Amino acid sequence: MQAQENFGFNFSAGPAMLPVSVMLDIQKELLNWQGLNRSVMEISHRSAPYMAMMSEAEQSVRRLLQIPSDYQVLFVHGSASHQFAMVPMNLYQSGTMDYVDTGTWSCKAVAEAKKFGKVNHIQGLKMDNNSLTELKAPNEWSLSDDASFLYYAPNETIGGVEFAETPDTQLLYGRSVPLVADMSSNILSKPIDVNQFGLIYAGAQKNIGTSGVTLVIIRDDLLPLVDPKVATMLQYATYAKHQSLYNTPAVFPVYVAGKVFKWIEDCGGLAAMEALSARKAQTLYDFIDQSDFYTNPINLNSRSRMNVPFILADQQLDAVFLKEAEKQKLYGLEGHRSVGGMRASLYNAMPIAGVEALVNFMKEFALNHG
Ligand SMILES: Cc1ncc(COP(=O)(O)O)c(C=O)c1O
Repeated sequence: MQAQENFGFNFSAGPAMLPVSVMLDIQKELLNWQGLNRSVMEISHRSAPYMAMMSEAEQSVRRLLQIPSDYQVLFVHGSASHQFAMVPMNLYQSGTMDYVDTGTWSCKAVAEAKKFGKVNHIQGLKMDNNSLTELKAPNEWSLSDDASFLYYAPNETIGGVEFAETPDTQLLYGRSVPLVADMSSNILSKPIDVNQFGLIYAGAQKNIGTSGVTLVIIRDDLLPLVDPKVATMLQYATYAKHQSLYNTPAVFPVYVAGKVFKWIEDCGGLAAMEALSARKAQTLYDFIDQSDFYTNPINLNSRSRMNVPFILADQQLDAVFLKEAEKQKLYGLEGHRSVGGMRASLYNAMPIAGVEALVNFMKEFALNHG
């Protein structure tokens, strides 16, 4: 078995690094899947082996997240950005949609929801006394009396902020309001209680596999809310009724997702991912915090375990930092084009050795250039 060290470490925010054992497994069976003399991309999605594989992928993610039986697991075509529209298209009937804006992705979701009805655009960020960005607590949100659902992103990939706790809508509204979460960048990184959510979605290219499919977990009672005039392929009910096989699914991304789910199970499940994530994030933040050369702009209580943005004392050195990092096989460290600086994404597939290699490199770089 080849070690991750041979390939280096990819800190990209997405498409992100996959576990090396999953990649090698895919490579091994690419041309001849299950002895069929064809790849998984070349056989009918209605063949028994494909349907069994897809069903096992669903069962595996159900086991990982302990998804209750009154929730559907859907493999929906396309990206997380498609969900910005599909959520209001499927769930909105009347009243107001409450959206908590904590950064780029939830803000984009707000813009899309406005095409479908009345949106309450809630500012979810504030500055602390040290000018660090901080998440507002849910009791600081200005919510609507007539909310039809509450939408938020538990982890904002670009800004690097993450909610430690799930908001309790029963407590916030005094009635049951469905909670919708864009978990694209932190799904499967810790155990969650699915019962707290009406709908969860996550694009695959970070903690699930490769782009082209989005995992949607939706409570049964929300399926009939959709207006039947909505296009068939944009209704969650279509995917639910046909076990995500109404038409040809994204065969390869679903196959990769199944492998990643199994890998997480073999690693010890979500408790193991949570422990690993905490260790990785702490290693990097501890180093940044004691350094005069690197800074992270987020208040301690709002820091993301998945995406760690940081800036160098001298931003003229950004290009040199990235070039030297690549020489050490440390890839994908540039910050999002909208904010600049650096960002290290520490999704499930990143081993602790990758974070240690990054910290060693950062130390050396600061010594040479600080
Ligand atoms: C939290 C979050 N939501 C949505 C998206 C958009 O994903 P996609 O490119 O699949 O539309 C991203 C992409 O990084 C993301 O991080």
